[in-house]
Amino acid sequence: MLNATLTRTFALLLWSLSLLSCHQDPEDRQYTIGFSQCTGGDAWRRQMLSAMKGELLFHPEIDLQYRDARGDNAKQISDIRDLVKNGIDLLIVSPNEASPITPVVEEVFKMGIPVIVVDRKISSSFYTAYIGADNYEIGKLAGSYVSELLGGKGKLIEIWGLRGSTPAVERHKGFMSALSGFPDIDIVHEFDGAWEIDTVKHGLGATITQAPAVDLVFAHNDVMAYGAYEVFKESRPDNDTKFIGIDGLPGPAAGIQLVDDKILSATFLYPTGGEEAIRTAGRILKKEHFDKDNMLLSTVIDPKNVRVMKLQTDKISSQQADILRQQEKINEQVNAYTKQSVLIYILLASLVATIIGGAAAILAWREKNEINRQLEAKRNLILEQKNEIAEMAEKAELATQEKLKFFTNISHEFKTPLTLILGSIDEIISKNTPDRITSTDNLRLIRKNAVRLLRLVNQLMDFRKIEDRKMLLRASELDLVAFIEDVMAAFQKTASRRNIRYTLLGHADRLPVWFDPDKLDKVIFNLLSNAFKFTHDNGKITLTISVDEPARNAIIFVEDNGVGMSREDADHAFDRFHTGEHSAGTGIGLSLSKEFMELHHGSLLLTSEPGKGTRFCIVLPLGKAHLSDNEIATRDRAFVHDVDHEAIAEDIHLSTADNDSENDLTIKEHTVLIIDDNQEMRFFIRKKLQPHYNIQEAQDGVSALEKAFSTVPDLVICDVMLPGKSGIDVTTTLKNDLRTSHIPVIMLTARGSIEHKIEGVKTGADEYLTKPFVFEYLSERIKALLRNRKLLREHYIHGLNVSTVTTAPGNLDRKFINDFTALIEKNVANADLGANEIAHELGMSRVQVYRKVKALLGFSINDYLVNVRLQKAKYLLLNTDKSVAEIAQEVGFSSPAYFSTIFKNKVKQPPTEFRSNKMSLHTPN
Ligand code: FRU
Repeated sequence: MLNATLTRTFALLLWSLSLLSCHQDPEDRQYTIGFSQCTGGDAWRRQMLSAMKGELLFHPEIDLQYRDARGDNAKQISDIRDLVKNGIDLLIVSPNEASPITPVVEEVFKMGIPVIVVDRKISSSFYTAYIGADNYEIGKLAGSYVSELLGGKGKLIEIWGLRGSTPAVERHKGFMSALSGFPDIDIVHEFDGAWEIDTVKHGLGATITQAPAVDLVFAHNDVMAYGAYEVFKESRPDNDTKFIGIDGLPGPAAGIQLVDDKILSATFLYPTGGEEAIRTAGRILKKEHFDKDNMLLSTVIDPKNVRVMKLQTDKISSQQADILRQQEKINEQVNAYTKQSVLIYILLASLVATIIGGAAAILAWREKNEINRQLEAKRNLILEQKNEIAEMAEKAELATQEKLKFFTNISHEFKTPLTLILGSIDEIISKNTPDRITSTDNLRLIRKNAVRLLRLVNQLMDFRKIEDRKMLLRASELDLVAFIEDVMAAFQKTASRRNIRYTLLGHADRLPVWFDPDKLDKVIFNLLSNAFKFTHDNGKITLTISVDEPARNAIIFVEDNGVGMSREDADHAFDRFHTGEHSAGTGIGLSLSKEFMELHHGSLLLTSEPGKGTRFCIVLPLGKAHLSDNEIATRDRAFVHDVDHEAIAEDIHLSTADNDSENDLTIKEHTVLIIDDNQEMRFFIRKKLQPHYNIQEAQDGVSALEKAFSTVPDLVICDVMLPGKSGIDVTTTLKNDLRTSHIPVIMLTARGSIEHKIEGVKTGADEYLTKPFVFEYLSERIKALLRNRKLLREHYIHGLNVSTVTTAPGNLDRKFINDFTALIEKNVANADLGANEIAHELGMSRVQVYRKVKALLGFSINDYLVNVRLQKAKYLLLNTDKSVAEIAQEVGFSSPAYFSTIFKNKVKQPPTEFRSNKMSLHTPN
């Protein structure tokens, strides 16, 4: 679009420029004139041509093509044809002879080419214009002058011009007519000089000697008159014959000069008509007015006026020269002007091109800017859209991730009850004839866990309904106080068993409120479950019912003084996909409760402080103005609280009682610490392991670590999902602490993915078991790990190859053994060295060192110390001459007697005997 406009503008400008530079008026178009000259060889003809050229200077529109026929009629005819062929616009012709040239001139004229006849005439009127002096008049003038000069008497010779040319004929006629009145003037001789000097000299020379004395020679031109003079001067030097000619040309040896030189008595001006011919041609070509016959004036030039004439002609000559010079200058200036014009045009064209280019550049720049702006805007729009899409994709991805996480967590929730159910069933099956108690306990456990699974499934279905917007409110007007009392009843037993102060405060009377009993039951039950779950034994759980001011809403507070929530957990407590430390349980109950309250057009709020407790606030609008018709139950239903509430409520324990007290009191070789927040799971494992191991229990990470450090168990079974510190944290801490680093850890988890296994193993866990697991497998793994410990011990003691053990010692344990053995080596002579000193030196408690040494080396510290002392004593007995008393002291025995007793006890022979026996073995006979 822009380019097309620019191209058009540019073309228009160039065209205007070309008009400026080559402007051509149709009137001023270029013409070509053909000029056919009968002869070009004499001064008069040269003057004619030069006059034409002079005049042409003022007619730059006219080009002249010149042909010289050299006095040859045939040549002149062909010259004319040639000119016509060249496409001349006009023909100027001075015919050599009238008759022969007339047809070709007529021909040209009839072709429509204007013809100007100059000087000599043709014998027809088929020409456009004639220019020339009146030859008859000139002849007459000459006749009159002669008669006067001769005083009316005398003898003459007349020398004709070419007889076939009109000037000769007309001059003769005029001459004769003037002399007709003078009978005493006698033309004694006449002949054709053909306008040429040579013809005259030749023609006259032959006759003059016989001719009588003549008074005057009249020649039709000055050239022939001069020729006659020359002949006479030669043949008759003393004669006084007068000579008269025609033409009166200026210049050396020409008519005027000859008069001035007294050679000619007179001459008659015969103008060439060169200027006039060109001027007339111009007019004809430009279709201006012109005269057909243009007679030029003539005059006599004789001694009376010759000087004036000469002065005039000289002046004219010099003026002509001036004109020529000026013309040259003008030409030079025109050339310079033309060059400058060209330069200016070039500059102008460049300027125009530059301006157009500049304008184009500016336009292009603007257009480009505009396009850029539009592109930028489009780009920004696309970017915005892209970002929006990316954000949406991110949100969708996040939502998917959250959902996946949620469903994974929910699935895990199924695993603990399933493990317990499967474990119980396994136990019943494994005993061929199970006793009543075992069966009842197991069946109770199975039922409890099946109910738990059912509750989870119900919650999931409620979720599904809410997600699909199929969950509808079915509100009836019921007494809120009685309703809450009913829900609370389910937890009464748990409260009294755990000594929790469990009270309902506030509104004592009836409080009729429109609500959906199914849903509110679930909400309050869920809040109570949470309260009981996170409240310690001897704690406090309070429900308060009130009505706000002005009475718009019923307010129910469910408050506990339990563990509370961190700020982060409180912020996300109602997220359906959130599982925080606090909500290590299902994590969906609270979210569902909130949805249910929103269905009621009410709300569920929460405030919590870690360590101090949590308070939930249920806001339930009063009246039914806020309910639409389809939210009101069509008929009253008898609401019955969930029969399993009580069973579930009883299930919720958070006992701080020391479960170890329930242990079988028989002391076993190894102690196992079970860490799981699910009491039944702990109970289940304990029941199975108790016949073989001492059992310790912990339900959260913090208490688990406390127990591990104080008692240093032989093996730890740890659940990954724990409230507070996670199982991963617990394992990491145990494995990075010198006091506990040697303890094998079995992790139990519902998360079975390889990533989670890797995460578990990275912490240093020795085994990673996924729920639901088969107990037998757990049992075998415990045995194997403890067996490995034993192998490891043997490795430490006997330097066995480490590859024989499946569990290589960690760096921390290796360092411990090095430090421990080095300490003993260094202090072997110190009789005071004992468990206390060693524990002190190693920066651990006596129990910790004791258990660690026992675990890693299989000895008590003292046994190990005695062994080292005895080994060194044996060496000294065999390799030195030192006395038993000296050796006893060197290996750290307080008395030689005590040394001997211990030595004899362990080596089964007294030291002296040991030395002599060995010596005798080595002594040659
Ligand atoms: C030149 C000339 C003139 C004369 C004229 C007549 O060629 O001979 O001297 O006047 O021609 O045509």
